[in-house]
Amino acid sequence: MNKLVIEGGVPLKGEITVQGAKNAVLPILAATVLSADECIIHNCPWLRDVEKTGVVLEKLGCMIKREASTLCVDTVGINSCRIDERLMREMRSSIIFLGAILARCGKAEVGMPGGCPIGLRPIDLHLKALRQMGAEIIEEHGYLRCSCKKLKGSCIHLDFPSVGATENIMLAAVTADGTTVITNAAREPEIIDLAIFLNKMGAGVRGAGSSCITIEGVDKLHGAEYRIMPDRIVAQTYLIAAMITGGEIVLRGAEPHHMQAGLSALSEMGAKIRADKGCIYLKSEKKIHSVRIIKTMPYPGFPTDIQSPFMALAAVADGTSVFVENIFENRFRHVDELIRMGADIKVEGRSAVVRGVKGLYGANVEAYELRGGASLVVAALAADGITTVSGTEFIDRGYENIERQLAFCGAKIKRVWT
Ligand code: UD1
Repeated sequence: MNKLVIEGGVPLKGEITVQGAKNAVLPILAATVLSADECIIHNCPWLRDVEKTGVVLEKLGCMIKREASTLCVDTVGINSCRIDERLMREMRSSIIFLGAILARCGKAEVGMPGGCPIGLRPIDLHLKALRQMGAEIIEEHGYLRCSCKKLKGSCIHLDFPSVGATENIMLAAVTADGTTVITNAAREPEIIDLAIFLNKMGAGVRGAGSSCITIEGVDKLHGAEYRIMPDRIVAQTYLIAAMITGGEIVLRGAEPHHMQAGLSALSEMGAKIRADKGCIYLKSEKKIHSVRIIKTMPYPGFPTDIQSPFMALAAVADGTSVFVENIFENRFRHVDELIRMGADIKVEGRSAVVRGVKGLYGANVEAYELRGGASLVVAALAADGITTVSGTEFIDRGYENIERQLAFCGAKIKRVWT
């Protein structure tokens, strides 16, 4: 067990190189299963979820080698098509292995992912699509047992542009018989990253980044070498951290085009932002303005993953901000913890009204999920006195060594083991 101990009030000043994107590396690692070859993946962030994905791959029979931020995955020896319940519970996103294992082995057996702290997170869209492609899927004893000798290309309309379902279908479709067309597909940058990687493996994916993706099935894929895109959520978290402390920061290796919604909200709140390719510079003004309304939406709308760090910023802004969470039904668990630190926030269903206060104060708070945890760290950096954040295992799922990055920029933050 460990905690982050943060003494607030120091303006951040410095440079951070943005880590590789968690939400891109996970589906790309799942995609390696599709070839019986070696893939080399650069810029892998060192995160719990990446480690766990490595365990999933090893259990399937792959050989993994890690050197700094490069992962070599040799998938020649795959001899299992099963992901057990315990691993599925630990990392819900392992569901994206379903399409890949099914395509490679003709069958797959994975534990049911179950709920998670931010909401129910059903997988009905994933299963409906795979069934449409010819998979037989039986749900029993906490497992999904799937089989299909050869998946068939199909026209699949998603009722909601689910990121995970879009990825699962892409993974299943690249070696299917015939053409698959996904309409109302998710448009997130991580989908484009996955498509580029699949095409490097020899796949025929077109239209990724638009809401209509076409996949021409091919017989076989081969290994590929790829560099993971920068993490747009982590990048925005550090920008918010600089702004809430009245500091200034340079982010290297960032992709500003992936963050239009967030950058525009930061400008509205008073940040001075300059963005060139691969580099973002933020300088905060004395006063943080409230943001009229933030409504989370599928990309290119405002990302649900950055809603909570923005709420920490709004908590100390001048005026009232409104947040509407449209993606996940239970993504306000950080609110009670921010209130412990002196924030004035009222939640009504999927909306939160945040009245900015003059300042926050240090308290003992707990992270219940990844991004909510990041919002507490952000709030603590600006709070008067010392904040202790427990539940760091959630934060470590998505932020590579958050305390070191922030300390480099002058934050008084340390990890203590209890
Ligand atoms: C991914 C991201 C997560 C991000 C989310 C939305 C990864 C590993 N995680 O999660 O960080 O917050 O996108 O940007 O990439 N839904 C259904 N049925 C389904 C699938 C989804 O009803 O079969 C619903 C979900 O309950 C949710 C919404 O669709 O309300 C969005 O979910 P989805 O886009 O699938 O998110 P994930 O892929 O799980």
